[in-house]
Amino acid sequence: MPAKVVVIGSLNMDLVTRAPRLPRGGETLIGKSFATVCGGKGANQAVAAARLGAQVSMVGCVGSDAYGEQLRGALVAEQIDCQAVSVVDDSSGVALIVVDDNSQNAIVIVAGANGALTPEVIDRFDAVLQAADVIICQLEVPDATVGHALKRSRALGKTVILNPAPASRPLPADWYTAIDYLIPNESEASALSGLPVDSLGTAETAAARLIALGTGKVIITLGAQGSLFANGAAFEHFPAPKVEAVDTTAAGDTFVGGFAAALAAGKSEAEAIRFGQVAAALSVTRAGAQPSIPTLSDVQAFKAP
Ligand code: RIB
Repeated sequence: MPAKVVVIGSLNMDLVTRAPRLPRGGETLIGKSFATVCGGKGANQAVAAARLGAQVSMVGCVGSDAYGEQLRGALVAEQIDCQAVSVVDDSSGVALIVVDDNSQNAIVIVAGANGALTPEVIDRFDAVLQAADVIICQLEVPDATVGHALKRSRALGKTVILNPAPASRPLPADWYTAIDYLIPNESEASALSGLPVDSLGTAETAAARLIALGTGKVIITLGAQGSLFANGAAFEHFPAPKVEAVDTTAAGDTFVGGFAAALAAGKSEAEAIRFGQVAAALSVTRAGAQPSIPTLSDVQAFKAP
């Protein structure tokens, strides 16, 4: 029986345009393409964990619209348990994404139905949390819900992962002791710690500060520079596999889902980080959020160039 990963978070329909570069304020650019793609940080992490070997349940909300049906259907197609994905009387979450010729993106999200994921909804699906080995949260649903979910997961004795994305401010102080693995990227680590993070050295300083706030372990993802792991006693740097990037959307989600799936399957932290890194590297070689996420056999077949 594969280990059980529960993802509590967002489902968004991504409205993706490709353009030569990201637009400046007040500017209209001629785009090259448009696509609607299933996404949302929570749903992407659920898909990643499922494709990479875990048994997955999703806890979230979609709207009573066509996007809601597609978003839920995409998870069901991955054999993800959606008993805790509620349909609410609102529009589904959307993300407006522009990807430029350097494969960088800019994203604006509108929460819609994701805002209906309240602490009460989490309590209604407590049995789903109880069945988990690893529970993952992110920040595209209300803060009160994330705080409640983290603390309940900790009380149940689960392995708790927070991907603090998107983050633009420090986290509530009483969340930190409920988190086993805090996984921010550079800008999120900077927002949380109040320190600049633009190198391995500055990432170490920020990670030390986050651990001092009470979180168990920190993994700062640094894009092409790899990942920094910190556990309060030591730092370890994991260089990133080198690939040709097409679109970085959902690379962080793929890392988080892959790391969780590997950890739940009993891999060591170092093995789980390397596994997540290969999965994330493969995801950036393909366009879109969920369509870009590799399978277990893709990861096993990966050979560094
Ligand atoms: O992390 C990528 C995701 O961020 C996209 O799929 C989009 O929905 C936004 O939530």
